[in-house]
Amino acid sequence: MSLQWDAFLCQNGEFFTLALHSYLIMSETNNFNQFKGAKKYIASPELRAIVNVAIALGRPLLVKGEPGTGKTLLAHAIAEDLNKRLIVWNVKSTTTAKDGCYIYDTVQRLNDARFGEGEVSDIKRYIHLGKLGEAFVAEEQLVLLIDEVDKADLEFPNDLLQELDVMEFYIPETKETIKAKHRPIVVITSNNEKELPDAFLRRCIFHFIEFPTPELMTDIVHVHFPHIKERVLDLVLKKFYLLRKYDQLKKKPSTSELLDWIGVLLKSGISEKDLLDRMPFLGTLIKKEQDVDYLVKFKGYTTGLEKTGQKAQKAEMDQD
Ligand SMILES: Nc1ncnc2c1ncn2[C@@H]1O[C@H](COP(=O)(O)OP(=O)(O)OP(=O)(O)O)[C@@H](O)[C@H]1O
Ligand SMILES: [Mg+2]
Repeated sequence: MSLQWDAFLCQNGEFFTLALHSYLIMSETNNFNQFKGAKKYIASPELRAIVNVAIALGRPLLVKGEPGTGKTLLAHAIAEDLNKRLIVWNVKSTTTAKDGCYIYDTVQRLNDARFGEGEVSDIKRYIHLGKLGEAFVAEEQLVLLIDEVDKADLEFPNDLLQELDVMEFYIPETKETIKAKHRPIVVITSNNEKELPDAFLRRCIFHFIEFPTPELMTDIVHVHFPHIKERVLDLVLKKFYLLRKYDQLKKKPSTSELLDWIGVLLKSGISEKDLLDRMPFLGTLIKKEQDVDYLVKFKGYTTGLEKTGQKAQKAEMDQD
């Protein structure tokens, strides 16, 4: 609806206010829908909406979901779609919140003092900003991915609360406060290895990436394999979703494993008939030997390797 059209319709003040109001709502809405998905990332409408909620409220978006369901890739997609720089902070078991703010390189300072190099009284030279610090001092708004927050110990999310809330931190060594010039768009991923503290959760917008429906998965596969034959895709998806139905599996295959499987199927040039009869390259989908055993013994899966590859390998080993 154009503003001119509104003005034409609204001859009296009351209508004009109404039209202006709807115009403003529409422009606000347009501003709200910032994230629309990226070329190589298929986001469900719910996921797109929640990303836009987090951006609008300026709150971190906490994303959970099965491994391989596109949590990490989401941050890349947001950065790509909004044309913003991405900073990735990969959390490890030893990561502390302070590492993300800054590191004070005392070893270098000590060395410089011993060997008479540099101005050791200038502590600033030995302060190196971490990923959070980098995001805060950036001249433009960027996307900050805090990947796998649940890998570190429980103190980590608790220690991050203040920084994520007020978007600043203090460096006692230099008596400096680093304040975010532009509130970054923060995406935090978790694999549910540890329960996150309530106080941390309160500050985040939460989204659980549901396992893609076959329809959404079809779009995801097309993004990665645009030339895949529809018949092959149909067959592959049927086999894949059937596998996921077996509750006895200790680790069900996920999106990334499906993509690997399709990749190898296409590369190997396997025939449709072969694909129909057996389950080639099962190792790309199933990663636990108990699961392979279960499928072979109880579900009658054959990979085909029994007849070819495995025998050849066994013969080779026997020779040794
Ligand atoms: N929605 C999607 N659109 C396009 N590709 C996707 C999507 N979801 C997953 N993928 C594919 O799956 C791969 C795995 O995604 P990603 O690494 O983001 O998963 P993750 O949820 O972070 O997994 P983990 O918990 O193991 O870290 C991606 O590299 C991509 O190829
Ligand atoms: Mg990940």
